[in-house]
Amino acid sequence: MNSPEALARQVMGRIDALAAISETPGILTRRYLTDEHRRANALVADWMSVAGMTSRQDAAGNVIGRYQGADDARPVLMIGSHLDTVVNAGKFDGMLGVLCAIACVQALHGAGRRMSYPIVVVGFADEEGVRFGTTYLGSRAITGRLDPATLDRTDSDGMSFRQALEEFDLDGDRICQAAYGRQDVKAFLELHIEQGPVLENLNRPAGIVTAINGQTRLSVVITGEAGHAGTVPMGLRRDALTAAAEGVLAVEAICAGMEDVVGTVGILRTAPGAINVIPGDVSFTVDVRAREDGARRDAVARVIRAIRAAAENRRVDARVTVFHEATAAPCAPAMMDAIERAIVATGIEPTRLPSGAGHDAAAMAELCDVGMIFLRSEGGISHNPAERTTLDDVTAGIKIMLAVLEELEG
Ligand code: GLV
Ligand code: MN
Ligand code: MN
Repeated sequence: MNSPEALARQVMGRIDALAAISETPGILTRRYLTDEHRRANALVADWMSVAGMTSRQDAAGNVIGRYQGADDARPVLMIGSHLDTVVNAGKFDGMLGVLCAIACVQALHGAGRRMSYPIVVVGFADEEGVRFGTTYLGSRAITGRLDPATLDRTDSDGMSFRQALEEFDLDGDRICQAAYGRQDVKAFLELHIEQGPVLENLNRPAGIVTAINGQTRLSVVITGEAGHAGTVPMGLRRDALTAAAEGVLAVEAICAGMEDVVGTVGILRTAPGAINVIPGDVSFTVDVRAREDGARRDAVARVIRAIRAAAENRRVDARVTVFHEATAAPCAPAMMDAIERAIVATGIEPTRLPSGAGHDAAAMAELCDVGMIFLRSEGGISHNPAERTTLDDVTAGIKIMLAVLEELEG
């Protein structure tokens, strides 16, 4: 009943049940502090109860399950990942880590087994940062490092984070109550799909994450002058979009020219947005990631200089704001070693690899030692409805996680 294979089948069924909770029928989109977030939390809380945990929702909207330890006063081992998604998401990103954690506790509970330490399973409320643009809101609340200025950030409808919390029956002034103290947490463990092709190319189901790359997000607003597409001569235009286009290409050229740096413009809005009007106002985002914080900062400084130079040449204004920054987060050597031993014990050749994607573990690294297990992604595809991991690999993931729990005894 609670064999890793049976638990993996249950996880796959639950992945589908969560994927059905979406803001948009037919595709999966579940943003922070929406009705769908509330429904997903309720379902996950039920599964936590079935697995023998007490459950609650914290002051930031994270759903938290607790499985008593044999010595319940010990610092807790936190395990988890996120329940929010990108727009038109895959169904494994985040959810798989929460569901495998619950499956492992269910296995312990079914066997009448307690680890010496308590286990806290977390379904983080916001990792993707889709709604308010800044990531890790759920995990940062748990680390106690959520910047209070974030509460004034607004979503695309102009609703502030603080107002959205109120609509969710939470209080921005009490979000600090979600925080854990350093002394209360033994370590954090996250299982996640790789979201890239490395493990598949090596034909290995699982790997050990060494570090999570840092990231910087910029918001760029270019202001030129709207005008008639038929009457303003080319040389007299102050076209905000052509200046922005130079900025977008500079992001690509600068990041492509540096080692282990990637840069993306994922949102670009142009106004007034009419076929016969020269664009007067353009805004776009820039997301820069790198393994080394120094290289990331260098790339960001060069991108900002290039955007300003393009704006000056084209006689438009450019306002650049850094609205999110996360430093690179190394995984703890003791956690990497424990995961490696667990992977070997499961009969899998170990592979160590860094993570280019952001993860809750990066935020949690400010609170405690963190470790991450990656499971192979089919085709390396992620942030896409085609995202997939096989039943066999999920079974392997559950076995590895259970073995890590044993490794962390004592
Ligand atoms: C989240 O998945 C991110 O890396 O942006
Ligand atoms: Mn993601
Ligand atoms: Mn994720």
